[in-house]
This record gives sequence, C-alpha cells and structure tokens, in this order.
Amino acid sequence: MNSRDRFLAALRRQPHGRAPVWIMRQAGRYLPEYRALKAKSDFVTMVRTPDLAVEVTLQPLRRFPQLDAAILFSDILVIPEALGVGYRFRDEGGIAMERALVTSADVDGLSVAGAADRLHYVYQALALLRRSLGQEKALLGFAGSPWTLACYLIEGGGSEDFPRTKAMVKSDPKLLHRLLGILADAVAEYLTRQFAAGADAIQIFDSWAGALQGADYEEFSLRYIRAVLERLPVGAPVILYAKGKSPQAAALASTGVPCLGVDWTMPLSGVRRLAGRPLCLQGNLDPEFMVGEPAAAHAAAMEVIADNAGDPGHIFNLGHGITPQARIETFQAVLDAVIAAV
Ligand code: CP3
Repeated sequence: MNSRDRFLAALRRQPHGRAPVWIMRQAGRYLPEYRALKAKSDFVTMVRTPDLAVEVTLQPLRRFPQLDAAILFSDILVIPEALGVGYRFRDEGGIAMERALVTSADVDGLSVAGAADRLHYVYQALALLRRSLGQEKALLGFAGSPWTLACYLIEGGGSEDFPRTKAMVKSDPKLLHRLLGILADAVAEYLTRQFAAGADAIQIFDSWAGALQGADYEEFSLRYIRAVLERLPVGAPVILYAKGKSPQAAALASTGVPCLGVDWTMPLSGVRRLAGRPLCLQGNLDPEFMVGEPAAAHAAAMEVIADNAGDPGHIFNLGHGITPQARIETFQAVLDAVIAAV
C-alpha cells in the first residue's frame, strides 16, 4: 500500500498495516535547508510565492522519505491577510498583525468580498504539489479555526493568553459573533478551494481552544467550526485539532469529523474512551522529545503506538508543532519507531 492510500485508509479507520506518519510543522527552523532559503526571503514572501512554498513543503520529504504525507507550507494567518489585516514575524520572535480589531467599525472594514480569491497562491502551490507528489504521498491543506483566527485579529498578534479576546467574550459578544461569522465564511470557502486544488485532507487548527472554558467553547468556537463543516461535503476528510480540549473529546467528536488531532496531555486511549464513537486519532508525541536523545524519543513513540493498541484509526504525529531546537537524528529515530511497529 502506498503512503497516500495508507493515510486515507487510516482516516476512514480501515486496515492499512502500520500507522501513517506525518509531523506537524515538518517545515521550519530545525532544518538547515529551510534556514538557507529563509536567509534569502522572509517568511511571508515564502508563503506567497508558490514555487518557494512548494520547495519548502518538499524539503522534509526529501530528507525523510518515509513520511506518508506532505503538509502545505503556509500559515493560518493568510486568512486575516486576505481580509485586509497583514501579518509579519517580529525580529524578536512571535507574530504581529498590522493592526488589532477593536471596534465595530474595524470589523465592518474587513475586505470580505473576494477574500478566498486572494489566496490564489495557496491553490497554485497545492496544484503544483499534487503534480509533483503524484498519487504516492498524501497532501494536506489546513486553516485556522474562526476562534483562533479571531484571537490573532483582536489581540493584534500572538499572545500568551489572549486577554483582549477573552474580554470581548464578556464585553461585546455580539461583535465577536459577527467577526466569527465572517471568518467562518472565509474559512469554508478557502477549504473548499483547497480540496478542489488537490488536497487529500485538511486540518482545522483550533490552537487557542484552551482560552475558552465550558459553554463558551461551544458558543464561540465549536459553533463556528460546525458552520465551516456544514459547507463541506458530508464526511469530508477533515482533522480537527483543538489544543487543550481532549477532556471535551465527545463535544469535538459530535462535529462529525472523521479524525481528531490530539495534543500530548492525554493518552490516545483516554481520548478514544471519551470520544464516544469510533474515529481516527492523529497524534500525539510530546514535541519536547524532539529536542532530546534519539533513544528516549524512539521509546516514547513506541509508547504512543502501544497505547493506540492496534486501532486502525491512527495517524502518528506530534502533539503540537516541531520547535527550532528539534534534532534531525531524533526526528529520524521517531520515524524509525513508527515504521518498525506493525
Ligand atoms: O506543518 C507544517 O510544516 C505546515 C506549515 C504550517 C506553518 N504554520 C508554517 C510555519 C502550519 C500547519 C502552521 C499552522 C499555524 N500557524 C498554527 C496552527 C498550529 C499551531 O502551531 O498551533 C498557528 C497558531 C500558526 C501561527 C504561527 N506561525 C505561529 C504561532 C508561529 C511560530 C512563531 C514563532 O515565533 O515561533 C508561526 C511560524 C511558522 N509557521 C513557522 C513555520 C514553518 C516557523 C517560521 C520560522 O520561524 O521560520
């Protein structure tokens, strides 16, 4: 079975031999070939230039040919940019948006019409990748969830805990709902076009799900993820990653997605028990292992696989993005562990 078939079989929980493997943020500063390209062009230019985005997407697959899937090199912040609020990486690290959305007039000022069209460079990169990967490897697209995108827009950049966005939940829920509706429309259209351009599956990142508790999570995040999913074909190959929300796996599973992305704070077996229905899980090695010794990471990867107990619905991955300090030999040791396990 080739990588692409294995990946799609795991998503549908059909038998496929070993767990397919991809690593969240395959691209990035831990790879010398990425740093070399980045020395010549800035991040946003790389994202916006299809040939460069294709090159960065393929770099990890050249180095680690055993990876089963390529994830498009891009960023969740292309949606805010297409709506008229650009982003950049601060020299000292972290993300800055061009401006923060504060008032009702700020939300009214977003360039809603044609937003998904302005992301033509993403569809072009996906089409080029599909051609270059052929039918051998799975190709993944992605988008941020409406809530997570709202966090960056309202805060005006990255943050430890998004205090302004959390304050708006209480102070102006109507305005926040209006913004989330706009984002859900843009994300739905964007994902539809990614599938059309050749993505086999897409991942929705709700990276800041943990900023919302209890009923607020349903009202301000899950509700808009459901709105996005309603605009995609029933059973579309979607992986939903909601960081910090494994204890609410049943609510996440109730969206109907075939696969949940899982962070490293709860074993896969626990998430499976809570989910309440059979589904595919993607995860969930603690990314911290990638900066340590290969042997320890190898052992930890085997534990993840053992905990999955042979369920066909497993795509091996890290529980979050790979860091710049990750070691290449440790990455390889993790891959070796997954490939040796049956
Ligand atoms: O996995 C991949 O290689 C695909 C590409 C990808 C990137 N960003 C490229 C990237 C994906 C899937 C993302 C998603 C993304 N971007 C998320 C959701 C996933 C998550 O991490 O929770 C979020 C929240 C972002 C926003 C973002 N972009 C952050 C928080 C950062 C790190 C900022 C920092 O200062 O470290 C980025 C940068 C980023 N996105 C890099 C890459 C390869 C590192 C860029 C660099 O430093 O050269």
